Amino acid sequence: AAMADFIRGLPKAELHLHIEGSLEPELMFELASRNGISLPYSSIEDVRRAYAFTNLQSFLDIYYRGACVLVHERDFYDMTWAYLKRAQANGVRHVELFFDPQTHTDRGIAFETVVTGIDRALQDGREQLGISSGLILCFLRHLSAAAAMETLDQALPFKDKLIAVGLDSSEVGHPPEKFAEVFDRAQREGLLTVAHAGEEGPPEYIWGALDVLKVSRIDHGVRCVEDPSLVQRLRADQVPLTVCPLSNVKLRVFDCLEAHNLKHLLDLGLCATVNSDDPAYFGGYITDNLVAVQQALNLDREAISQLARNAFEAAFLSREQKQTYL
Ligand code: HPA
Ligand code: ZN
Repeated sequence: AAMADFIRGLPKAELHLHIEGSLEPELMFELASRNGISLPYSSIEDVRRAYAFTNLQSFLDIYYRGACVLVHERDFYDMTWAYLKRAQANGVRHVELFFDPQTHTDRGIAFETVVTGIDRALQDGREQLGISSGLILCFLRHLSAAAAMETLDQALPFKDKLIAVGLDSSEVGHPPEKFAEVFDRAQREGLLTVAHAGEEGPPEYIWGALDVLKVSRIDHGVRCVEDPSLVQRLRADQVPLTVCPLSNVKLRVFDCLEAHNLKHLLDLGLCATVNSDDPAYFGGYITDNLVAVQQALNLDREAISQLARNAFEAAFLSREQKQTYL
């Protein structure tokens, strides 16, 4: 209990959070009814029962369906505000969150509606909750590079609201190289880059994210341990890995939390961080992830403090801003 209290009290930075994955079933039902959209679930319990995943794709199918209740700017605001209140209760002081515009624009929702709703909540979060934040536009890698470029075109008028672009959705079969051109353009426009790699995909995808997409961080990255020369590179450059323990178990990347390689990553000298990914779907926010992984891997206070420090080091904040948190 003393350890759990210590974890709860730590100031945290969250760097791997899909805002659509923070949509709790209760709010999903409320938005469905507000917008006259029918859901394939009869009750909250029915939703929770459907959240029994076997791999990344089985989750994505359900996650994209859930996002269909988001229609108006207010819906994106309400979802983001609900997350920020949860984040505050978890001791989160800084968050860099992902959004998936194509999940919405492909249903006829304007890019502006999505980005404005999320951004307004982030502004209120800074003013009313004292949580600093940044927004990362993720391209859906199962869609084409041309579709990603079109999305970047739609985003550029709102560039001041974004800090980076990222890459998510179905990993295997969609290597980073597919998006070389759009990431290059995003960088020339002044945006940073990150990418999901090495969650289900092989170490080669992590190499591609580093060398072709020039990413500042790797999202997940847990499969890096299969390639010692890659581990050496990640350690030498202190490339942060945004690890998501509860997600990894729910999507069967690891059989159980006890089998997770987070402690190994820290022992290798890598800049690992702990994050919640899609908390409404995977059963826990950032504190739940830290408490669960501390117990499963018997991490000591020093390891927990290291994880918290790593997250602020890995954040897209100036040295001065980091100093105020560290
Ligand atoms: N991996 C890939 N795509 C995603 C994830 C993830 O963990 N969460 C939401 N979209
Ligand atoms: Zn993710």
